[in-house]
Amino acid sequence: LEQDQFSEKFHPVGTKRRFPQCIIFGVRKCGTRALLEFIGLHPQVQNAEHEMHFFDEDEKYNLGLEWYRKQMPYSYPEQITVEKSPRYFITEKVPERISIMNSTIKLIVVLRNPTTRVLSDYTQVYYNKLAKGVTFQKIEELVIDPYTGEINTDYKAVRISIYHHHFERWLRVFKREQILIVDGDNLILDPVSEIKHVESFLGLEHYITQDNFYFNKTRGFFCKKQGSMEKCLGATKGRPHPGTHPSVIRKLNKFFKPHNEKLFKMINRTFKWS
Ligand code: A3P
Repeated sequence: LEQDQFSEKFHPVGTKRRFPQCIIFGVRKCGTRALLEFIGLHPQVQNAEHEMHFFDEDEKYNLGLEWYRKQMPYSYPEQITVEKSPRYFITEKVPERISIMNSTIKLIVVLRNPTTRVLSDYTQVYYNKLAKGVTFQKIEELVIDPYTGEINTDYKAVRISIYHHHFERWLRVFKREQILIVDGDNLILDPVSEIKHVESFLGLEHYITQDNFYFNKTRGFFCKKQGSMEKCLGATKGRPHPGTHPSVIRKLNKFFKPHNEKLFKMINRTFKWS
């Protein structure tokens, strides 16, 4: 039997596929996979393994909500199903579509220093191109507009990092209290403290502790530990970023500063991004 048919036939008694009660909706390259994997250590959480892209891709959305529910993992009644698709954050139609499914759903977004996010985004695309044997522009050529010498706001990686532009759309549809913001920079340094906020937000007992993690020196990141099982995130997570001229970093920081201020006001929280 194929994996899907197998689980369809032999799922544990008392479990069924349920709509997610929580969605991690972004932001790409801010630590969304780490967050999903880490909160999935909680016995009362069931993760959808793959990114669903149900609400952002019309072909999938048109298949209907029942189709979406059937993509979810089996769960017990007391468990919370969580799915993550980072592109939801930037896709216009998504907040409205999610609210049609469930207007009181819990939403989580991971944010990270927007400049670091640009570098991480560039790195991801760079490696993807490299794998296909395609040469790729230097980061400076993409980030800086060659005519003005200013930040190129047509570069998608820059646009995604202007968080308040996107966040505004979410706050038009959902209440601020429905959205938990996870600090992606701190998630790297101290996953347990961020996960504790998530547990509280989801109304779960605190279960995940330092014992669920160990620091992997080779990777330079925390990895999961569950009994005798140790597991780091995939090799595409936590790769070194390309060396970038300090003047470009300064320009990015300066560019994002007023945008960050707008976001902080909007979300009623500040971050030490500079
Ligand atoms: P980099 O690869 O640029 O370092 P996403 O899953 O949303 O694509 O985010 C990827 C980022 O998650 C990585 O960006 C990495 O910095 C961050 N991350 C956070 N915690 C991590 C962990 N424990 N292991 C690996 N990467 C982690």
